[in-house]
Amino acid sequence: NTGKLWGGRFAGGPSPELDALSRSTHFDWRLGLYDIAGSHAHARALAAAGLLTAEEEATLHAGLDSLASRFTDGTLQPDPSDEDVHGALERMLIEEVGPDVGGRLRAGRSRNDQIATLFRCYLLDHSVTVTGLVLDLVEALADQADQHLGDPDTGGGAAIMPGRTHLQHAQPVLLSHHLMAHAWALLRDVDRLADWRRRVAGDSPYGSGALAGQSLGLDPELVARELGFTGSTANSIDGTASRDFVAEFAFVAAQTGVDISRIAEEIILWATREFGFVTLHDSWSTGSSIMPQKKNPDISELARGKAGRLVGNLTGLLTTLKALPLAYNRDLQEDKEPVFDSVDTLEVLLPAFTGQVATLVFDTARMAELAPQGFSLATDIAEWLVRQGVPFRVAHELAGGCVRRCEELGIELDELTDDQFAEISPHLTPEVRDVLTVEGSVASRDGRGGTAPARVREQLAELRGLVAAA
Ligand code: ARG
Repeated sequence: NTGKLWGGRFAGGPSPELDALSRSTHFDWRLGLYDIAGSHAHARALAAAGLLTAEEEATLHAGLDSLASRFTDGTLQPDPSDEDVHGALERMLIEEVGPDVGGRLRAGRSRNDQIATLFRCYLLDHSVTVTGLVLDLVEALADQADQHLGDPDTGGGAAIMPGRTHLQHAQPVLLSHHLMAHAWALLRDVDRLADWRRRVAGDSPYGSGALAGQSLGLDPELVARELGFTGSTANSIDGTASRDFVAEFAFVAAQTGVDISRIAEEIILWATREFGFVTLHDSWSTGSSIMPQKKNPDISELARGKAGRLVGNLTGLLTTLKALPLAYNRDLQEDKEPVFDSVDTLEVLLPAFTGQVATLVFDTARMAELAPQGFSLATDIAEWLVRQGVPFRVAHELAGGCVRRCEELGIELDELTDDQFAEISPHLTPEVRDVLTVEGSVASRDGRGGTAPARVREQLAELRGLVAAA
């Protein structure tokens, strides 16, 4: 006997080089408790099919319980001779309860349907953890938005910042509005995970065997229910060969990383001397070993960097899956490390990122000062003219003329005199000044989704409602 799961037809054991290449315990050991849960469920299915006596089944459950407690306290560790988590735990179970009973458990299952099931269980659990961490970040953004919304009664005092397109000043917006734009993107990631869970939870592959199903009268639905699934796989080939559930999880992780990286990039910009929009909390920023004055946005920079890593994990995985023939191929062992890394990355990144966002201190005076600069109220002039009955094509020209005149004079729009406005067009009466304040500008954008303080307050309530329901 070679000590391997497949000893029978081999005269000798595998070469050490093959063993080294084949081994996956250094990364799949983290699935141990899921493997044990699968074995408990499988023992029940075997007993229900009359393939284990009640006594044998009880012996197996007791042996598995003992392995689980040693796994949890860290004393159970794979040997270098163990190929993967499934083989290692089967060897340990046999050592625990003896070969006569322990050797019965493998009937009707394969590592192919085992791994396809356990990997789903692992990702289902971590999708819940990641969801909670993303929601914490959404809440930190919502709290910051709340704190900068001004007086709820008068609607005054909301922080206004320069809204940008092409990174150029475009139109003034509420800081709260801008922060929640990031929150909505993250909430969609949460929704994607919920959608993913709905699909995966109905699809337990146990019972698919190696690829063709099993002949022992086992009930896959029983195993599915025991493991917390709502249903079992309809096609055993699909059950053992498909990994789109892994790629989809990796995509949501990558998209989440990309969404976080967009906040990160803005924090990095905002913390520069040139912007001066935010100060980072001492506990959520770093210094320099040589330059005593430095305060660096390392959390945001790491977030930006880790987004690349998350995208890489997705790309690597899809490349592994491309053109892979049905059914199971050993290539599929390469599916785990990338997505384990994506899980680990998000679980270490999100708490730090949320702490940084929650403790940002905004220089709202600086933002307010810059908000009207760069002629960001030119659109307000054009839309004011439209409300006076001027066609937009003409209004756009006239507002552009105001900007040109200001550039010639080196002034801002609200510094044009009544005469200078009138010279540009008789339509530009002194009343145009009503829209030449950033407060007037944001208040005028009062349609659903707009940046008017009253709308943004409604938006915050809508966001918080969805967070509470998530
Ligand atoms: N460790 C393998 C994996 O992660 C599962 C074992 C299947 N091995 C096999 N020779 N059929 O995919």
